[in-house]
This record gives sequence, C-alpha cells and structure tokens, in this order.
Amino acid sequence: MSTISDMLPRHFGPYGGRYVPEMLVPALEELEQGYLKYKDDPEFTAELADLYQNYCGRPTPLYFAENLTRELGGCKIYLKLEGLAHTGAHKINNALGQALLAKRLGKTKVIAETGAGQHGLASATVAARFGLECKVFMGEVDVRRQYPNVYAMKLLGAEVVPVTDGTRTLKDAVNATLKYWIQNLKDTHYILGSALGPFPYPVMVRDFQSVIGREARAQIMEREGRLPSHLVACVGGGSNSIGLFHPFLGEKGIRFHGAEAGGRGPEIGDNAARFGGSPKVGIVQGYKSYFLQDESGQLQDTHSVSAGLDYAGVGPELAWLFDQNVVEFSPITDVKALDAFKRLTRLEGIIPALESSHAVARAIELAPTLPRDEIMIVNISGRGDKDIFITAMELDRENWIAFLENEVRHGK
Ligand SMILES: Cc1ncc(COP(=O)(O)O)c(C=O)c1O
Repeated sequence: MSTISDMLPRHFGPYGGRYVPEMLVPALEELEQGYLKYKDDPEFTAELADLYQNYCGRPTPLYFAENLTRELGGCKIYLKLEGLAHTGAHKINNALGQALLAKRLGKTKVIAETGAGQHGLASATVAARFGLECKVFMGEVDVRRQYPNVYAMKLLGAEVVPVTDGTRTLKDAVNATLKYWIQNLKDTHYILGSALGPFPYPVMVRDFQSVIGREARAQIMEREGRLPSHLVACVGGGSNSIGLFHPFLGEKGIRFHGAEAGGRGPEIGDNAARFGGSPKVGIVQGYKSYFLQDESGQLQDTHSVSAGLDYAGVGPELAWLFDQNVVEFSPITDVKALDAFKRLTRLEGIIPALESSHAVARAIELAPTLPRDEIMIVNISGRGDKDIFITAMELDRENWIAFLENEVRHGK
C-alpha cells in the first residue's frame, strides 16, 4: 500500500534522502504532509499565483538579447530576467511559497540561512509581508562582505545572527539554522533557500522555483513557436537552475548547461566546482549528494567572486541529472564571470548579478559554436546592484575607494 510519503520523491537516484538527527524528523514530516496537502490546493495555488503576479511582478520577461546574439554570431539568445522580480532575484519565488505554507502550518516565526544575503533578504521580505518574526543566520565573514543586504534585512524587521563557527560562511550558517530549528520546532518554520537539504526541501524548493521554467516555456512558444535547444543557468545550491530546467526535462533535443564557480582556478579551496576535478559523494547537512570534501569527508573551503555560488554541495536532483549526462557542468572563473558581467551590461543595458554572470559567460562560450537557427535561454537569476561593493572594487577600485573614504569623512 502506498503511503503519503511515496507521493513526493525522497531520492533522486541514490541522492537526496533525509539524514537528520531524530529530533528533526517530526518537523520534516509535518512539513512534508503540509506541503502534500497544500501544493495543489486551489486556494493555496491561487494565493501564490496572485502574490507572484501582484507582489513580485511575475511573469518576468523573456527578452531577446539581439545585440549579444549579433556579436557572438551563433544561436539566438533569450534572457529570462529573474532580476526583475521583487527583491532582485529568483529567491523570492521560494520564500513566498514557504511563507504561505508556514502560515497554514500555524507557525509564527521563520528562520533562514543566507550567504550572499539574497535569500535572507527574500525571507525577511516575506516575513514582513506576513507578520512573521524572522531570524536570519549568516556567517560572520558574509555579514562583513554583504553589508547592504544585512542593512536591508534589519530594515525589514529581521534579526541577523552572525555565525562565528567554522569558516563563518554559508555552510556554517546552514548548521546554525538547523541547530536553532531543533530547539524551536513548535512555532518556527525553516525557509531553506536552495533545492537541497533533507527531504522534502529539494522537491519543494524545486517546485516553487519551477515557475521560472513554466513561464519561459510558454513565453518561448509564444515568441518562436518551438522549444529552445539549450538552457543555461548558474549553479550554487541549484534552485534557479533546476527551476528553469525542470519543466523542460524529458524533451528531446534540449541540452542543459550548469555554470559553476571556477573561482581563481582549479586548486583546492580556490573554487566551488563540485563537478570539476574528481567529484565526491557524501552525506552532509541532511542529504546525500556531491560535495567538495577532504579525505575524511569534511567540507573543503571554497572561493568565488560571487557569494551565492561558493557552497560546497549541490542539490540531489542535479547530482542525479549529472550522473545521467542530462546536465553538463562547466567551471567559470572569476575573471570570465567579470568579463561577462561587463559585456552584458554594455551590450544589452542589463547589469546581471555576479552569480548570473557565470551563466552569461557559459553562454558566451557556447553560442558562437551553435547554428543561427538554434535557440538558447539563459537564466539571469538576479540583478547586479547588490554586488556593487565587489564589482566596483574589481573594476573601478581607485574611484570607489575615494568615494567610500569621502563618505566616511564627510557623509552626513
Ligand atoms: C542571484 C543569485 N543567483 C544564483 C544564486 C545561487 O543559488 P541557486 O543555485 O540556489 O540558484 C544565488 C544565491 O544566493 C543568487 O543570489
């Protein structure tokens, strides 16, 4: 006899699962059953659709990048502009879905982990919208690197908790959030920010983010009357990529491309390219997948110019799609990402997030090798305003430092 849990995939091939301390199991079971109950509930889906449209500004545009297409001289390139969604990135799609669910489960508090701050910002935003108390756990290093987002989260009423364990980055923030959750299960929902973690998060986050691919599919059919042959997205934990890819999986003739953080290069600690050198399977933070780990299984240090791509693990569904040769992964170095960032800005008047610039860089490598009658969709997962403290430092260092010094000395 099938049980309720058979209705959502717990595993993707050998990956995924729910490897957590006993104390967390009841909360994850409550979430699983709540998600099953509401995911197709007409009232729930209508409320979410209304918020997507009227609060987030969905559908986001699918824009034909005419100048980039012309300059590269290959296939036609379309950009799915998730940066135009409220809060400036795709993270809001998932945060909104989970907040609605938390309300229905009777929770009054939400917690979230964040690296770059985009998911923390999205969580603080939905918490403000729904009158939920919000705590965001963020590595101390990231708190320093991403202060504009920290400021915005506080402005929205969230408490930002600096995490001082380990390397004081995203993985430590995830651990701290899980630890806090175990102690506060009754009234608290954990809004996990990517398509990873213990079941049911990978499937639930994927479903909320699939709005990207569903819209892109309908939009390209309307514009071109046929499906694309290439889809490109950057891959941190994997939520924007699986969100774009999922509604196209199983279609013949489509190639799926994931751009990972190639960082400073292939040395250990210089990148976050999990599929780059020799990928290792492990069980970390509640799920089984590929992780950058040392001989004893500890997560390795990572680096990327984009704070949203420097996570050592990857969502289990993408791990399985990699094994089946469905998704191809490529490391994109910091230098290439910054170059793509400048190129898209100048050619199309669109300033992409540094994470999304990795996808643009992959498109720039691929497009010239493809016939002109083929179509590619590139997900621009976020806009680049949030990165000004990094890009200005890299691309306009002297003037930026002079501006900052002047602000500190003379700012009112
Ligand atoms: C704009 C943007 N794109 C991509 C990512 C990577 O996350 P994911 O792989 O879950 O889409 C992040 C993470 O913070 C982000 O802020």
